[in-house]
Amino acid sequence: YEKQDGRPSRQRLLVVANRLPVSAIRRGEDSWSLEMSAGGLVSALLGVKEFEARWIGWAGVNVPDEIGQKALTRALADKRCIPVFLDEEIVHQYYNGYCNNILWPLFHYLGLPQEDRLATTRSFQSQFAAYKKANQMFADVVNEHYEEGDVVWCHDYHLMFLPKCLKDYDSKMKVGWFLHTPFPSSEIHRTLPSRSELLRAVLAADLVGFHTYDYARHFVSACTRILGLEGTPEGVEDQGRLTRVAAFPIGIDSDRFIRGLEVPRVQDHIKELKERFAGRKVMLGVDRLDMIKGIPQKLLAFEKFLEENPTWREKVVLLQIAVPTRTDVPEYQKLTSQVHEIVGRINGRFGSLIAVPIHHLDRSLDFHALCALYAVTASDISFCPLFFFVSNLSRCSIVTSLRDGMNLVSYEFVACQDAKRGVLILSEFAGAAQSLGAGAILVNPWNITEVANSIAQALNMDSEEREKRHKHNFSHVTAHTAQEWAETFVSELNDTVVAAQLRTRQ
Ligand code: G6P
Repeated sequence: YEKQDGRPSRQRLLVVANRLPVSAIRRGEDSWSLEMSAGGLVSALLGVKEFEARWIGWAGVNVPDEIGQKALTRALADKRCIPVFLDEEIVHQYYNGYCNNILWPLFHYLGLPQEDRLATTRSFQSQFAAYKKANQMFADVVNEHYEEGDVVWCHDYHLMFLPKCLKDYDSKMKVGWFLHTPFPSSEIHRTLPSRSELLRAVLAADLVGFHTYDYARHFVSACTRILGLEGTPEGVEDQGRLTRVAAFPIGIDSDRFIRGLEVPRVQDHIKELKERFAGRKVMLGVDRLDMIKGIPQKLLAFEKFLEENPTWREKVVLLQIAVPTRTDVPEYQKLTSQVHEIVGRINGRFGSLIAVPIHHLDRSLDFHALCALYAVTASDISFCPLFFFVSNLSRCSIVTSLRDGMNLVSYEFVACQDAKRGVLILSEFAGAAQSLGAGAILVNPWNITEVANSIAQALNMDSEEREKRHKHNFSHVTAHTAQEWAETFVSELNDTVVAAQLRTRQ
């Protein structure tokens, strides 16, 4: 590397996440087609020029044969991606099992699954063993590609064991870990049978980051109460070694959304949507079909709103985009049926031969279609997964997550408001409530009456108030971008390691 002020000017960054930012489809024995997915993390890192990022993760497909693995590895290399191959059994036990059936619900305050709490400790143990094994497989791939001076940034609840595995390879490796979900109260974390082992594994990192100060505080409390370690304003100390713990709230690439609104395809979509829903206010919900997103609660609140406001019945439409996710996990299958049942009931109750109040889609939308929906929502009414947004004509949109690490849909909605000043109804249990709380209407998503009332409040809000709220949120979303988030984390990680070296020398 070229050195500048003693620091590499183009530092290599190894980003390790469970899932690579590509979808891979096999076309033949040794041929693959790849499509980059533009999630928050990808756009964050694409915008950062300071370092050269490489991704290490699971490609989301089972590739049992060596020919297929080699071909996929070659294809991914062009995208600076390096695959970790996980077989079906590991995916079942590690991803479906320990990650998505145990850690995900627990970290979102939905508790441990009953069957694991009762008798089937064997299944818990085998899932945890698979989790550790999978994390070790990620570590092996990192170690194979690691060069001295690289920064290794591990992401999310799938890889809590990874910092330890990496430090076992090389204690000098610069390792950061960031959690994209909430970290729950220590009283929740302590119910997890593997609570101590996981905390210790994370503490092997040099820097541990969370979206909000509260999550960081919960983590430090868990370390003090469960492990008996000392919490300091800087982090957690164990026998003289400090693991730095801090909050780094993520953002979005707001320019990408703002520019997106100018694209002719988006303008065409907006026109189509306006024609399609002429005379009705559009509320928009965009969520992964996940129990943490509070979709049933949102639908029930919308039903209550229709019940209590008969004059709105034929004037509002809720567009709910529910992106299927983790469809092999039984809890997610149950949720899908539950949501379909509620939508059917509400449409049966309040629909007419000409129109229904809810349009529910089980699928994802591409970037341009999404920008158009956010924009239309702004000009009429829109509902977001957790929030409701209000516009000039109508006035509201809602996001009702029961818990959410951050919720970037709310940020995307704000970025696409343009001059429309849509109102956002946002769950107080989403991390975003801490940054957009002053501009949104905050609601407790479990309180159906409160959420129904907030829709009415949003619809009746005057334009001055809407303008004031929107300004607050828009300036936050455009000032705290994903790029800035990534740069801050990596620079803090570099500084933390330098500070630790100085401490050891003293
Ligand atoms: C959440 C997690 C991410 C995960 C995403 C999609 O946002 O924090 O790590 O990638 O959900 O879930 P999936 O299981 O499809 O990767």
